[in-house]
Amino acid sequence: MLAGRVALVTGGGSGIGRAVCHLLAREGAAVAVVDINKEAAQETLDRLPKGNHAFCADVSSSSSVKELLKQIKTSFHTVPSIAVNSAGITKDKMMLKMDEESFSKVIDVNIKGTFLVSQAVSQAMLAEKISNGSIINISSIVGKVWYPGKCCVTWIYTDTDDRCSAQKCD
Ligand SMILES: NC(=O)c1ccc[n+]([C@@H]2O[C@H](COP(=O)([O-])OP(=O)(O)OC[C@H]3O[C@@H](n4cnc5c(N)ncnc54)[C@H](O)[C@@H]3O)[C@@H](O)[C@H]2O)c1
Repeated sequence: MLAGRVALVTGGGSGIGRAVCHLLAREGAAVAVVDINKEAAQETLDRLPKGNHAFCADVSSSSSVKELLKQIKTSFHTVPSIAVNSAGITKDKMMLKMDEESFSKVIDVNIKGTFLVSQAVSQAMLAEKISNGSIINISSIVGKVWYPGKCCVTWIYTDTDDRCSAQKCD
């Protein structure tokens, strides 16, 4: 079903991203397993059939993402027409105890990272005149349903900051 397509999966070294890599490869796509953890990406690759590649990249860095797209083109001789943004980090804390550095890190990886990869892949697809591209972002149910201690996620994904700031301090 996906034969001839190249799929880039961020966070491919673990959890949901790894499962997505397996699914896409099973459907015939050539998979670019991307993770900041090189060993984890390689571990995913080792369990995939031949024809896929692993890449180490930091989605929160534009230079790293640009370099990634170059490496993918060199390895697969084409650009991705599927991108799955699954790279993410969690810094769970009640709002009153959340430090600025943790909040910024979550924004950098989960939000800016998703933007940088989506932008770079979209630019590559446009340059190659790919008309059947797909970009899939993995989010969280906590964006829709408030959950105690998930200050970052609730704040980022929804306009429910009134509920977020009403969290009790643990
Ligand atoms: N698992 C869940 O129940 C759940 C629930 C809600 C939302 N999510 C979201 O789904 C996504 C995937 O979750 P998961 O459970 O598979 O997480 P995970 O921690 O198992 O995998 C995330 C992967 O992202 C990689 N990563 C982290 N920072 C990176 C960076 N800067 N650049 C590239 N790779 C980076 C990690 O090395 C890791 O391999 C995350 O964004 C998470 O917030 C997960």
